[in-house]
Amino acid sequence: MRGPLVLGIETSCDETAIGIVAGRTLLANVIASSVEEHARFGGVVPEIASRAHLEAIQPALAQALKDAGLTLKDIDAVAVTGGPGLIGALLVGTSTAAGLALGLGRPIYAVNHLAAHISVDYLTHENPVEPTIALLVSGGHSSLLKIDDITHSITKLGATMDDAAGEAFDKIARIMDLGFPGGPAIDRTARDGNPTAIDFPRGLTTSDDWRTRPYDFSFSGLKTAVARYLEATPQYVRGDVAASFQEAVVDVLLQKAVHACQESGIDRLVIAGGVAANSRLRHLASERCERAKITLAIPEPALCTDNGAMVASLGALMIAAGRPASPLAFDATSSMAVETVSL
Ligand code: KG4
Ligand code: ZN
Repeated sequence: MRGPLVLGIETSCDETAIGIVAGRTLLANVIASSVEEHARFGGVVPEIASRAHLEAIQPALAQALKDAGLTLKDIDAVAVTGGPGLIGALLVGTSTAAGLALGLGRPIYAVNHLAAHISVDYLTHENPVEPTIALLVSGGHSSLLKIDDITHSITKLGATMDDAAGEAFDKIARIMDLGFPGGPAIDRTARDGNPTAIDFPRGLTTSDDWRTRPYDFSFSGLKTAVARYLEATPQYVRGDVAASFQEAVVDVLLQKAVHACQESGIDRLVIAGGVAANSRLRHLASERCERAKITLAIPEPALCTDNGAMVASLGALMIAAGRPASPLAFDATSSMAVETVSL
């Protein structure tokens, strides 16, 4: 059973990404990244990202249509990341999307990047997957959510009080000189390390925290602890530091996610966002969920980091649920509450 042909456009950060789905079937997923242009600055430079999107978006669109064996006229609806993200970067995608929707006479769905990360998981399941608990861990956001309907009803259980999980990876990689983006670099470096070599702190896990803010995260104390350790230990073993840091992040994320499932009585967990590509997180999540009898869903690594398939998927889900399209003149927005699914 195929559904509407939806084109998804994602340009919120440094990936120019176009995805095409037919309902829950993925037809094309093209990603052009400008990450190498940012690497020497140690982080994404907004102006460089916007210019790179302008150059990459037309070729990416042409490639996606070719991969799907379609022409623009076949497209039933256009979905685009309306926020959150870098405003100049978002505007390249949203202007392209609005132009296409207007020219083709098709509806446009300006959707939330965060909900889109989660909805990529729906591509791999025919059956309803709600309600579900979602652990969303990306470069800009970390939150625990209860999803009753991804198009309409998302409840925030908790979020990070300071750095996002991916941001913590990026910052630690930077002080260890491992390059940018830090997540994949730490993941690689940690492979030859001992995760129990250094006992780094687990943020917000005192008994008081479990009582008052069980679903919130904090990574700033961990970041300081790693920086102090590096300063005090000139002969440190890179693999051990990376593995022990990674273990501290992943352990807390999963303790709280499993707790959310148990407390809410929802025995399904989806993990989404760039950090969900982390090999240790994936491994430990499957162990802990099996033990707690929780059904675990983690998209394949290439669909965890930013992509257009996730945007197209959310667009198709919006159509299937009969949700209204966005006005053509919607405003892209750099900050957007995680509960707001579309503009
Ligand atoms: O979802 P995403 O691609 O972009 C945002 O929406 O932010 O997430 C990017 C973040 C970066 O912080 C990156 O370091 C992290 O995801 N990341 C990883 C891994 N791959 C990407 N973190 C840990 N391990 C990885 N393998
Ligand atoms: Zn993202």
